[in-house]
Amino acid sequence: MITGAARGIGRGFAEAYVAEGATVAIGDINMEAAENAAAAIGPKAYAVHLDVTDQSSIDAAVASVVMKAGKLDILINNAALFDAAETVDITRGSYEKLYAVNVAGTLFTMQAAARQMISQGHGGKIINMASQAGRRGESLVLVYCSTKAAVISMTQSAGLNLIKHGINVNAIAPGVVDGEHWEHVDSMFAKLEGKKPGQKKAEVAAGVPAGRFATPADLTGMAIFLASSESDYILSQTYNVDGGQWMS
Ligand SMILES: NC(=O)c1ccc[n+]([C@@H]2O[C@H](COP(=O)([O-])OP(=O)(O)OC[C@H]3O[C@@H](n4cnc5c(N)ncnc54)[C@H](O)[C@@H]3O)[C@@H](O)[C@H]2O)c1
Repeated sequence: MITGAARGIGRGFAEAYVAEGATVAIGDINMEAAENAAAAIGPKAYAVHLDVTDQSSIDAAVASVVMKAGKLDILINNAALFDAAETVDITRGSYEKLYAVNVAGTLFTMQAAARQMISQGHGGKIINMASQAGRRGESLVLVYCSTKAAVISMTQSAGLNLIKHGINVNAIAPGVVDGEHWEHVDSMFAKLEGKKPGQKKAEVAAGVPAGRFATPADLTGMAIFLASSESDYILSQTYNVDGGQWMS
C-alpha cells in the first residue's frame, strides 16, 4: 500500500512496483484521482480510500488491502502536506494540519501496517517519505521541515523496535521533485518572496548539484531496493536521493 499515491512520487512508485510484479493499493484521500491513477497503471493497481488523519480510515484501508490482496507486505508512508510562512505568521491551523498528516498520519499508518505484518508472521517493509527539509531548517518552512525531521526520527525508533518481527523500517529523503506539489510550492514562494511564477523553481534547480529537479522515476530504484530482500540487513536509515544536495 502506498499512501498519497494518486499523483506525484507515490504514483511513480505505484507504477514501478507494479512493473516489479507487486499488487499495489493506491491509498489516497482523493478517491477520484486514485481511481484514475489505478486505471492508468493497470489491473495490478487499485484505489483504496484513505485519510491518514482518521484512525478508522487507516484501519479500514489496511483491512480492505488484506481482503483484496490477502496480505500486506510493504507500506510506503508517502502522503504529506506542505505549507510556508514567516515564523510570526504561522497559524495553529496550519501546524495542526501538517502534523496530523505528516507526523500522526505516518505514525499511525505505520502502526496499523506493522500490526498486520506481525499477525502475518513473515516480516515486512515500511518506507517513510522524509525530505531534505528534515535535514535542516528553511527560513519560511518551519512547520514542514520539523514534520520531516520527525519522520526521520520516527523511522529510527520504529526500525529498532520492529526488526524483531522481521519488519524493516527505512526512509527516503528526496530533494526537489517535479510535479504538482512543486507547482504549489513555487506559487507560495512567489507570494512570500515577491517572485515571478516559475522563478523560485528555476533558482532551486540551478542550485541542485545534479543540475535539475528529480522526477519520481529518479527515486524508484531506492524504493524498490528498500522493499526487497536485498535490504534485509538495513533498518532505521534515511537515504538521501536528492541529486547531491545533502550528505549524511
Ligand atoms: N515533491 C518534492 O519535491 C518532495 C521533496 C521531498 C519530499 N517529498 C515528500 O514525498 C512525498 C510525496 O510528495 P509529492 O510531491 O508526490 O506530493 P503530492 O502533494 O504531489 O501528493 C500528495 C498526495 O497525498 C494525498 N493526501 C493528502 N492528504 C492526505 C490524507 N490526509 N490522507 C491520504 N492522502 C492524502 C494527496 O491527495 C496527494 O495525492 C511527501 O511525503 C513529500 O513530503 C516531496
